[in-house]
Amino acid sequence: MLQILALDLDGSIVDLLEREWDDCTCSVSTASNHYELVMKCQESRFDAVFVDLDHPRSGSLEEIEQIRVLSPSIRFFVVTSLPTWEQAVQCIKNGAEDYLAKPLLPEKMQSILHCLQRRLAVRPLIEHQHSLEFDKSKRIIGRSQAIQKVYDLIQKLARVDTSVLIRGESGTGKELVAQALHYNSARKQGPFVAVNCGAIPENLIESELFGYEKGTFTGADRKRLGKFQFANGGSIFLDEIGDVSPQMQVKLLRVLQERKITPVGGNQEIPVDVRIISATNRPLEKMMQEGKLRSDLYYRLNVMPINLPALRDRREDLECLAGFMIEKFNKLHERSIKSLAPEALLALSRYDWPGNIRELENVIEHAFIIEGSNEIHTDSLPPHMLTQGDHTPIEKPAEPTPEDFAEDLKNLDQVLTDPQSLKYPELKEQFEKEFIKRALKAYNGRINQTAEQTQMTKVTLLRKLEKYNINPKEYQH
Ligand SMILES: Nc1ncnc2c1ncn2[C@@H]1O[C@H](COP(=O)(O)OP(=O)(O)OP(=O)(O)O)[C@@H](O)[C@H]1O
Ligand SMILES: [Mg+2]
Repeated sequence: MLQILALDLDGSIVDLLEREWDDCTCSVSTASNHYELVMKCQESRFDAVFVDLDHPRSGSLEEIEQIRVLSPSIRFFVVTSLPTWEQAVQCIKNGAEDYLAKPLLPEKMQSILHCLQRRLAVRPLIEHQHSLEFDKSKRIIGRSQAIQKVYDLIQKLARVDTSVLIRGESGTGKELVAQALHYNSARKQGPFVAVNCGAIPENLIESELFGYEKGTFTGADRKRLGKFQFANGGSIFLDEIGDVSPQMQVKLLRVLQERKITPVGGNQEIPVDVRIISATNRPLEKMMQEGKLRSDLYYRLNVMPINLPALRDRREDLECLAGFMIEKFNKLHERSIKSLAPEALLALSRYDWPGNIRELENVIEHAFIIEGSNEIHTDSLPPHMLTQGDHTPIEKPAEPTPEDFAEDLKNLDQVLTDPQSLKYPELKEQFEKEFIKRALKAYNGRINQTAEQTQMTKVTLLRKLEKYNINPKEYQH
C-alpha cells in the first residue's frame, strides 16, 4: 500500500488523493506544520510527501529539502497556487519530484499515483510501518527502534549470500527472522530447511544432515538424502547450533569451507549450493573460551550476526504484537475479540517476559479461552503474570477532581517563575503530567485517541497515567 503524507492548506490535495485512489492501495496521513511533517517522516516510512507552499507553516524550500536528507527514498511534490519559473527550478534542484500548480488536475494526480505504485511494486520488501512482511502471510511485528534495526539488517542481508548467525533469548523470533531472510533473498524459490541441532541424538545428526548410503548400518536398506541436499538451491537453518558436538563441528566446518558434503558410508563428495543461517541462545564466546566450540566454526558461521532484543527491552511493541495475535486467534478460534482492556495492557507492560514473544502468544491464547466478552481483561490473564516479582496488584487510580487540575496548573506556574525551583527532573515530570491531562481533556479522556494524537504509544500513556495517578474518565465531557 502506498503511504502518503500531505501538508495541505485547504484539504484539496487529500481530497484529490482520496478521490483518485481507494483506501486499499493508498493511505493518506496529514501533518499540520513543517515540524510535524519532519517528525512523521522520521518515525514512519512514507513513499511520497505533498507540501502545499501556500500553507503558512509549510516551511521554506530549504527546510522541505531536509526531508529528503532524512529519508532519501521519499518522493516529494510541491504544490502552489502562485507558481513561478524560478521557484519551480529551485524545487527541482532541491530534489522535488514535481512542482504542481493549483488547481490540481485529477489526470495529473492519477499519473503520479501510478508512477509511485510502479515503484512500490519493485521495492524489495513490503515494509509497513510496524511490520515486515514476507512469504504471503508471514510477518515480523514491531515498531520499536530495536526491531526496526533488525528489519533494516534483514533487508541488507537478504541481498547477499553470506552466513548469518541469529542470536537471542528463547522465543524472540529467531526462526521467523531466518525465514524472512530466506524469503526475501534471491533463493526464495528454493527450499527453506530447518534443522534443530539440539533435538537430534548425537549418533544420528551426521546422517540427518548429510544423508547415508544404502547398507551403511542395520536398517539402511536404501540410500537417504540429508537435510543439506534437501536444501540445495535454498537455505538451511541450523537451529541451536551451540548444541553441536565437537566431532560434528569439524564436519560442519568442512561443509562451510568447501560447500561439499559426504553422505555417511559414502566416499564421494557431493557439492551443495546452500545458504547457511544458524541460531542460538547460548553464549558462544564463553563456550569458545571453554574449548566447547571451535573458533574457526564460530567465525565461519558468524560472518553477520543479528541480535534479537528481548521483549522486556522493547515493551513499546507489546501493543502491536498483542493486536496481531488477537487477529490471528480470532481467525483460529472464530471469535471477535476487539482489543485488550487498558488494565490488561498495563499488566502486560509490567511483566518481564522470560519466554518472550512465544510466551506472549501463549498468554493471549490463554486469555481467548477464559475471556467471555469481546475485550481481554486482566482477569483472563494467567495469574502468575499479575503477581510476578514485587509488582503491586493492579488497582484503579484514585479519581482526581477538576480542582486538583486547577491546583496543578497554579503550581506549575509558580514553579516556573521561581528560579530556585528550576530543577529539570521535577519540572519535566510536572510538564509531562500537565501535558497528559491537557491531551486527555482535548481528546475527551479517550486513551486510544490521546495516544495516537500525541504520538505516544498506548503502553507509555498507560504507564504515565498510573505513575501520575491520573484517571482518564475524569476528562470525559
Ligand atoms: N516479531 C514478531 N512478530 C510476530 N510474531 C513473532 C515475532 N517474533 C516471534 N514471533 C512468534 O513467536 C513464536 C516464537 O518465535 P520463534 O520460534 O521464531 O522464536 P525462537 O527465537 O526461534 O525461539 P526458540 O529459541 O525457543 O527456538 C513464533 O510463533 C513466532 O511466529
Ligand atoms: Mg527456534
